[in-house]
Amino acid sequence: MSNIKRIGILTSGGDCAGLNAVIRSVVNAASLKGWEIYGIKFGTDGLTKRPLQYEILTPENFSNTPWPRLSGSYLGSLNSGVKLESVESISKTFGEGARELGLDALVVVGGDGSMNIVSNYCHKAGIKMVGIPKTIDNDTPITDSSVGFATACQVCCEALDSLLLTARSHNRAIILEVMGRDAGHLAMHAGLSGMADICLVPEIPYKIDSIVKKLKSIKKNGRNYALIVVSEGVKREDGKHVSSNTNKIGENVYGGIGQYLSTEINKRCQEFQTRVTTLGHMQRSGNPSAVDRVLATMFGAHAVQMLEAGKTNRMVAWKNNKICDYDLDEVVREGTTLLDVKSDFVKAARLTGMYVGEED
Ligand code: F6P
Repeated sequence: MSNIKRIGILTSGGDCAGLNAVIRSVVNAASLKGWEIYGIKFGTDGLTKRPLQYEILTPENFSNTPWPRLSGSYLGSLNSGVKLESVESISKTFGEGARELGLDALVVVGGDGSMNIVSNYCHKAGIKMVGIPKTIDNDTPITDSSVGFATACQVCCEALDSLLLTARSHNRAIILEVMGRDAGHLAMHAGLSGMADICLVPEIPYKIDSIVKKLKSIKKNGRNYALIVVSEGVKREDGKHVSSNTNKIGENVYGGIGQYLSTEINKRCQEFQTRVTTLGHMQRSGNPSAVDRVLATMFGAHAVQMLEAGKTNRMVAWKNNKICDYDLDEVVREGTTLLDVKSDFVKAARLTGMYVGEED
């Protein structure tokens, strides 16, 4: 058993739907145990910048407001990455900040990158941490699901439903570019739920000629519209990324593959006009779905139970229909979880006639 009296909670990395439901769950469960909860503002910045940025949270912060039902992060987040050489000095100010606030432990709601970076800070600063996975990319290791993914899928699915109607009015093949970074989970779920004709993911190579062949056969069979989903992390046919943009720490920033495909398809296919829709950050801010709210509530409650039991340096996970938790070092070691090209998702897509790239 632990002697916890005060915990901190922060959201880190790109925001997504369901973060506020996680915060509510942690705040409610922790305050029922008599603990104080400090909400740390703007991810790790709240502890590394001076003055410290935080807010004491109580169940009333959430029960009297619509916040738990909204997307975005009530606390704000930070999505900027960190240079390796800065980790040591940031850990020091981070640890000093946590000690100044008298935090006995920290709940970190983040994706694979945040689990790596913040667990590193916590480890170096001697702070007990429990992680809660969230990301629209669904690429956090070990857990089958992360908070925010279900809502993002819903946003993509609804976008495809809308695009189909306008595509049909104008004899068009509409390309929907979705997020997901290097993983195709979101694109594949979008493609399956929105019943797309073609779905391209970073994990599977494709040929423009095969896309054109598929489009021609759709037209030949009497349909005047088509839906194409492409993940932002998909490369050009020659294996290069469309954009060479990078962020402040040199990581790739994606975007533009939809337009590339449109141009290439137009060169070889007269059957359809093409148009591109890039959903962008809409995918991060849909109305949190029921599934995400349930997951958020279970994750938050479990994190508090773990802290009470003295189980730290672990990440909560949803695995085989159960809440469980894993060693954070194991999570970090696993890295990013990509779409399994032999998964039932890909299998079902192919079996129902979707072109998802070339088969081995
Ligand atoms: O990791 C979540 C995510 O939304 C990715 O799908 C996307 O590539 C990236 O974040 C966008 O980040 P930013 O908010 O910095 O534009």
